[in-house]
Parts: sequence; C-alpha cells; structure tokens
Amino acid sequence: MNKAETALVNSPPRRWLQRFYEAQVLMRFGGRLIPGARVLEIGCGSGYGTQLVLERFGAGSVDAVDLDPAMIEHAGRRLARYGDRVRLVQGSATDLRAALDAEDGGYDAVFDFGIVHHIPDWRAAIAEVARVLTPGGRFYFEEVTAHALARPIYQRLFDHPTEDRFTADQFLDQLAHHGLAVLGSVTRISGDYLLGVAAKPVPTGSDG
Ligand SMILES: C[S@@+](CC[C@H](N)C(=O)[O-])C[C@H]1O[C@@H](n2cnc3c(N)ncnc32)[C@H](O)[C@@H]1O
Repeated sequence: MNKAETALVNSPPRRWLQRFYEAQVLMRFGGRLIPGARVLEIGCGSGYGTQLVLERFGAGSVDAVDLDPAMIEHAGRRLARYGDRVRLVQGSATDLRAALDAEDGGYDAVFDFGIVHHIPDWRAAIAEVARVLTPGGRFYFEEVTAHALARPIYQRLFDHPTEDRFTADQFLDQLAHHGLAVLGSVTRISGDYLLGVAAKPVPTGSDG
C-alpha cells in the first residue's frame, strides 16, 4: 500500500464506513459468529477490522496476517489489550501454512476487508481461504473490483496489481471453484465494490 492509500484506509471516514456500513452488510449475510469462534483475518492492516471481528462479530480469537511488517506493528499497538485472543503474524495470505502453520479446516471464519485485490496471485489467496475454513465455516469479504481499479482516480493515487484484476463475477466464480457457496452478496457504485459472505459446505451425512 502506498502512502495515499494507507492514509485513506486509516482515515476516520473509512473507519466509520467499515463499522457502520460494511460490518452491518456482512452481518446481514453471514450473521454473528459461533461463541468462541476461531477466526483468521487476512491483510489485517492496522488492526481495526480485527477489533470489529472481536467486538461486533463475537470472535473468540483472531489470527491476523499481513504482508507489511509496519502494519503488523501498528496492529500490535491497537490490539494489545486483547492479550492472547489475538495473534499477529507477518506473512502472505497466499501461503498460510508458511505464515501461520495454518492447518486444513482450522478456522470457523475468515475475514477479508479489502485485501485480495492487492494480491497478484489472488486465486491462491482464495484457495487458501477455502482450505483453512472448517466445514460450515464462513468467508466474509469486502473487495474492490477491476471496475474501480480502472478509474483514473485509483490509477493516479494508488498502487495495485496491473494485471489479472477481478470483476465481482470473477471473484464469486473463484469462490464457487473452491466449493464455497455464496450466502449473499451485493455490489456497490456500478460494480466497484463487492461485499458478501460465502460458506464452506458441510459434507452430507456429517453431523457438523
Ligand atoms: C487496503 S489495505 C486493507 C487493510 C485492512 N484490511 C483495512 O481494512 O484497514 C490492504 C492490506 O493488505 C496487505 N497485503 C497486501 N498483500 C498481501 C498479502 N499477499 N498477504 C497479506 N496481506 C497483504 C497490505 O499490506 C495492506 O495492509
């Protein structure tokens, strides 16, 4: 993330939007978490989303990963009061085994507040989300699409991968490709933004 985007993402209006709009929409589609839920947040940035996941969604604990060590440091200061309910790790969402030693099916939910569009190999990140979710687990996502990234203002101000960006439909198709069933989704501002929740199915015949 460059300086302009870091400032925007951490600005009071964006935080207001995240708390009072994005979290509400995600809650409408996916509901609150099961008590004690083990949650992963990919691309946690400065940790504001982690705080929402703990306080609003009711996570028991959150493992939060970000590629940028400066973000992990910032998040560490914000989240210190949650003690061992939060584990912060520097690493990539495209290889959660290397970052966190994340096992298959280890998480009840994964949250993505606007990070997958930063990853050149975004399909690998979706594959990892599907892998680490437990059957019945949920993926809460808020994403910026190719439509937004093509706008002159985005091109002028921010740095994003220039190839293989995804539209809302391509993102949803990739979830389906990895067996995740969309519980609900919505696009905003002519397809610029995508919010939704998908679930990893429970195998038939299982009690889960
Ligand atoms: C737009 S910011 C969003 C930060 C945070 N989720 C929020 O809403 O404030 C994108 C974040 O993704 C992180 N990031 C980019 N590529 C990543 C990757 N491959 N794995 C994990 N984090 C990544 C960046 O360091 C940055 O903190």
